[in-house]
Amino acid sequence: MNLAVIGSGYVGLVSGTCFAEMGNKVTCVDIDTIKIEKLQNGVIPIFEPGLEQMVLKNVKNKNLFFTTQLNEALKGSEIVFIAVGTPMGADGSADLQYVLAVAKSIGQSMQQRLVVVDKSTVPIGTADKVKATIQKELDIRKSDLKFDVVSNPEFLKEGAAIADFMKPDRVVIGADTDYAFELMKQLYSPFFRTHDRFITMDIRSAEMTKYAANAMLATKISFMNEIANICEKVGADANQVRIGIGSDKRIGYNFIYPGAGYGGSCFPKDVKALRNIAIEHDYEAKLIISVEEVNDAQKLVIAQKIVKRFGEDLTGFTFGIWGLAFKPGTDDMREAPAIYVIKELVKRGAIIKAYDPKAMNEAKEHYLKGIQNIEYVDSKYEVLKNSDALVLLTEWKEFRSPDFEELKNQLKKAIIFDGRNQYNTFNLEAKGFEYYQIGKQ
Ligand SMILES: NC(=O)c1ccc[n+]([C@@H]2O[C@H](COP(=O)([O-])OP(=O)(O)OC[C@H]3O[C@@H](n4cnc5c(N)ncnc54)[C@H](O)[C@@H]3O)[C@@H](O)[C@H]2O)c1
Repeated sequence: MNLAVIGSGYVGLVSGTCFAEMGNKVTCVDIDTIKIEKLQNGVIPIFEPGLEQMVLKNVKNKNLFFTTQLNEALKGSEIVFIAVGTPMGADGSADLQYVLAVAKSIGQSMQQRLVVVDKSTVPIGTADKVKATIQKELDIRKSDLKFDVVSNPEFLKEGAAIADFMKPDRVVIGADTDYAFELMKQLYSPFFRTHDRFITMDIRSAEMTKYAANAMLATKISFMNEIANICEKVGADANQVRIGIGSDKRIGYNFIYPGAGYGGSCFPKDVKALRNIAIEHDYEAKLIISVEEVNDAQKLVIAQKIVKRFGEDLTGFTFGIWGLAFKPGTDDMREAPAIYVIKELVKRGAIIKAYDPKAMNEAKEHYLKGIQNIEYVDSKYEVLKNSDALVLLTEWKEFRSPDFEELKNQLKKAIIFDGRNQYNTFNLEAKGFEYYQIGKQ
């Protein structure tokens, strides 16, 4: 099949590349000329395991192309995906300007019947807006070309995006014509070798499914963080409680780790957007509002533990940070707890030494740009030299089982603040460490 994918960020680039891997001819479009030039020259603008090899292979075998010209990409395409960003607007709602700009361009340029697929996470009712925007442009052109609008929300996880896309748990397709359902099924069938995992539904339910999924996952995280905070007050250990409740199949072990709060490009903005969608429809989503409030507070819990141990004024203290990305396997720092913790420590006069396997450029160039008193170092053990304590904020594999003797030798004081509850099983107190974690006094 010939496909166009508009927006070549995490979702667009991964989806386009995986569709190409299955033998489709895919043209990925972006308005960011630098990004497209890089991609045309074999430089992958984001880090995602396995992505680089797959892009290069499919460019070489002429299944994958990159352009800034949307009209070029639409030529001969049967399906066009909209995978541009839907960032948080000033009031917390999803900003649809990029999605609707693409819809307008599609209406202006399409030359044959098209299935237009919303892959971006968009508020309920957006497909109607996309449809109206395209139709308006066709009317201006006095064209009677047919098109369908489909909702196909994306559930990939950054850090495991290729695996998630190639072997999806499910593919949700919201449509209102047999033609669109049939074409989408043909496109996705190669991804299901043993049994199909299509879930077909009406368009609004598909749009809502994405928000409900992210809100559910964010709720599990905030719930466990709230339990962790109560555990600290009552002298219980949240990690033991986690194991105790996770064994119940109705609860399960996933997404119930106490920690420094959720971040990333999706949960924070999607939870906020859902809250606003509810308000727009005269409903106050009390649980969703609380999920967000608990998370905002949780991002500072580790900084509060540091202040409790070292005092309100942190002038003269140096803290070594392991992990800047919002989670392992990505260089993405959007809404990462590290941003909040580091800013709070620096505000109180501390000096920071930081290391992350992938996100240091993002930190330097965007998320911590201009903040004084941060030194970025090239290895995890270099962070420790002259640091008063180690603060762990992202659970990268290389931080999982460090050389604790080395830690003790290098750190000024053998103190660890563990924002990810990584070292529960190492009995660090017996090894001579002061060990502070989430959900334990
Ligand atoms: N990142 C994730 O893990 C993830 C997972 C599931 C769903 N989503 C959703 O997918 C959507 C895209 O997310 P992302 O993380 O890939 O965003 P991103 O910011 O990484 O990429 C968006 C891209 O769209 C491009 N763009 C903007 N306007 C354009 C236009 N008019 N024409 C062509 N390109 C244009 C931008 O230049 C950018 O490269 C969002 O709605 C997001 O919520 C993201």
